[in-house]
Amino acid sequence: MTKVLRSVVTGVGGYLPERVVTNDDLAKFVDTNDEWIVERTGIRQRHRAPDDQPVSELAVNAARKALAAAGRTPADVDLIVVATTTADLTFPAVATIVQRKLGCPIGIAFDVQAVCSGFVYAMAVADGFVARDRSKCALVIGAETMTRLMDWTDRGTCVLFGDGAGAVVLEPVAGEGTIVDRGLLGFALRADGTKQDMLYVDGGPSTNGQVGKLRMQGNQVFRHAVVNISEAVTAAAADAGIEVSSVDWFIPHQANIRILEGVARRLGIDEKKVITTLSEHANTSAASIPLALDQAINDGRIKPGHLLLLEAMGGGFTWGACVVRL
Ligand code: UT7
Repeated sequence: MTKVLRSVVTGVGGYLPERVVTNDDLAKFVDTNDEWIVERTGIRQRHRAPDDQPVSELAVNAARKALAAAGRTPADVDLIVVATTTADLTFPAVATIVQRKLGCPIGIAFDVQAVCSGFVYAMAVADGFVARDRSKCALVIGAETMTRLMDWTDRGTCVLFGDGAGAVVLEPVAGEGTIVDRGLLGFALRADGTKQDMLYVDGGPSTNGQVGKLRMQGNQVFRHAVVNISEAVTAAAADAGIEVSSVDWFIPHQANIRILEGVARRLGIDEKKVITTLSEHANTSAASIPLALDQAINDGRIKPGHLLLLEAMGGGFTWGACVVRL
């Protein structure tokens, strides 16, 4: 069989800001309650970064842990891709700030903006460098301070989101070109700009010059989520040449427990294989998948050699999935 280069995950790390905000904390100033939030979303708490902690700091903390897990140092890193919607500054890219803060040498660094699907997009983009031997050690980071985008008078959105960061190190490793190879084995990415009005932030440097607040028609997004995600998961599995049923772990973007369960049901995935962090992390957008991956590696569920299916959907709409053997 022809040898191929694979982008192999050699380290994973996560970081959550210290402050925890419970549903009861929110109920003190928003017309909501713990029962509604838990029943409709599965969320019990979220982490919130203080105003003086920019997203780059969350990203750096997660990246340090991922590099340590991979046995690498910042000096090894030649590519940084940060998936984020909540950059420190309009420019430069968070990835270049991470590069400076970590002390990485001159290399490639840029951000990917695909909102909650950002991490899946970023993995596919980084694969374009790593699997072509254009990068020997890449950091792919999902990092968000979503609480900065909340309208705290809108109970339909402000209870859903949290802050955090997760990172993986990708390195090129020769494989056999079969499904037993470690690494990124396949992916499917999608976007449909006609659904933009259902989930967006009402500000930007080229419109009103403001950061803006998140606006969402939650039930409309919900209506599309299960169908869209299921199609992308099926397409990513086909791209990798695997059966969805052969996956060891399903690591979804953490938006709503009912979406996670709906996708698992539709695809016939055993719910014991679904990693959920929603109750503790809420929706951390591009950070939710690497954070969930980190948690399940640390608690011993996900082990080297396991076959993982990652999926997400978010503003744009964008959505996608990828298949990774750890
Ligand atoms: O990560 C990006 C992708 N985002 C998503 O995937 C989010 C997808 N959408 C969802 O997760 C759900 O649609 C929500 C959790 C946002 C909302 O759940 P829902 O079951 O679709 O509720 P709804 O928006 O249809 O609202 C039902 C009721 C409304 O009251 P009325 O009009 O029936 O009296 C809302 O005002 O629930 C009310 N409601 C709340 N009540 C207490 C909405 N938010 C809250 C709240 N607390 N926080």
